[in-house]
Amino acid sequence: MTTIHNDDQTILGRAEINDIDAILAIPSTDPAEVVHVVQNNADSIFTWDYSLARPALRKLYEKAKTGQWNATTDLPWDTQVDIEKTVIEDQELLGTGIDASVYVGTPVQKWGDKEWLQFGIESRNWSLSQFLHGEQGALICTAKIVETVPWYDAKLYASTQVVDEARHVEVFARYLDEKLGGSFQVNAHLRMLLDDIINDSRWDMTYLGMQVMVEGLALAAFGFLHQTTREPLLKQLLRYVMSDEARHVAFGVLSLKEVYEGMTDLEMKDRQEFAFEAAVRMRDRFMSQEVWERMGVNVRDIVPLVLADPTRAVFQSMLFSKIVPNCKKLGLLDRNDKWLRHRFEEMGVIQFEDWADTGEEYAAFGLDNDAMPGLATS
Ligand SMILES: [Fe+2]
Ligand SMILES: [Fe+2]
Repeated sequence: MTTIHNDDQTILGRAEINDIDAILAIPSTDPAEVVHVVQNNADSIFTWDYSLARPALRKLYEKAKTGQWNATTDLPWDTQVDIEKTVIEDQELLGTGIDASVYVGTPVQKWGDKEWLQFGIESRNWSLSQFLHGEQGALICTAKIVETVPWYDAKLYASTQVVDEARHVEVFARYLDEKLGGSFQVNAHLRMLLDDIINDSRWDMTYLGMQVMVEGLALAAFGFLHQTTREPLLKQLLRYVMSDEARHVAFGVLSLKEVYEGMTDLEMKDRQEFAFEAAVRMRDRFMSQEVWERMGVNVRDIVPLVLADPTRAVFQSMLFSKIVPNCKKLGLLDRNDKWLRHRFEEMGVIQFEDWADTGEEYAAFGLDNDAMPGLATS
């Protein structure tokens, strides 16, 4: 079990990060819900300083203007997607994503090919649905940054990200609707994280929550799926989205580096706690409780096993491969007696600290580059 910290009670609302009852106490989103209202507490800020003060952000803005693509005409939407065939191929290559031997004594033990296929299809749908909802979160957060960031260069850049995120919502919504025939509601933990980011009155917290944490995870997750799937439409869709996402993460890292260099230990502690909370919420969402519910498995029985599943643990830790180096670059790991470093050690993700950060990596993800870093090009 993970060490108990008094801080966790205040930050997470639970004294133990693996407290199953607390994790499951977050109510699922009603699938019939259509509107979700969140209070935005931030000030809208004008600046009258139109000078070029931050060349790195302006360079990113220029890159964004030439990196635009049209989701309607640039993707092969006429591709026939046979989801059963796709999932069978993926399972042959990667397995089911869980270690069946961990689920002895549960209904999962009795699953045959039919149930494993169904689980694969639901899991794919669930993952893409969470990408979709996360993309809408990014759309709202970036529109918020346009208003709240006090820097002219950052307002210009953020406006291009609004268009990028609109396109991402568009492609995931269309893929789910046309090719998979529907979607899942937003996961409870993802919803809570997005609400927290939008709620916060401090402009840099939008960046930290969205550009560094949520988008850092998305970049790693998209990369994994892009590399492994053989479904050509999804592969190309992800390739296009990633070319934008790499810029978005760079925007967060470049902006926050400047802000955090001038912060006191106390201010930095707030940011470290926020990053830790976001990391735990994202880990919690990967228990994919909505998939288990749809498979007719008791979530309360299964979630402790999911937490102990070594196959899931390897996959989940990979999702932090962009977040941890970016946190390091921002000075978040080691301030205040290495507070966040210790938390990432407990979560089993600190091993990524010296992987490439995303401050400059966006050029390599550009659509004009055939070979993306660390990704198959076939
Ligand atoms: Fe996006
Ligand atoms: Fe993004």
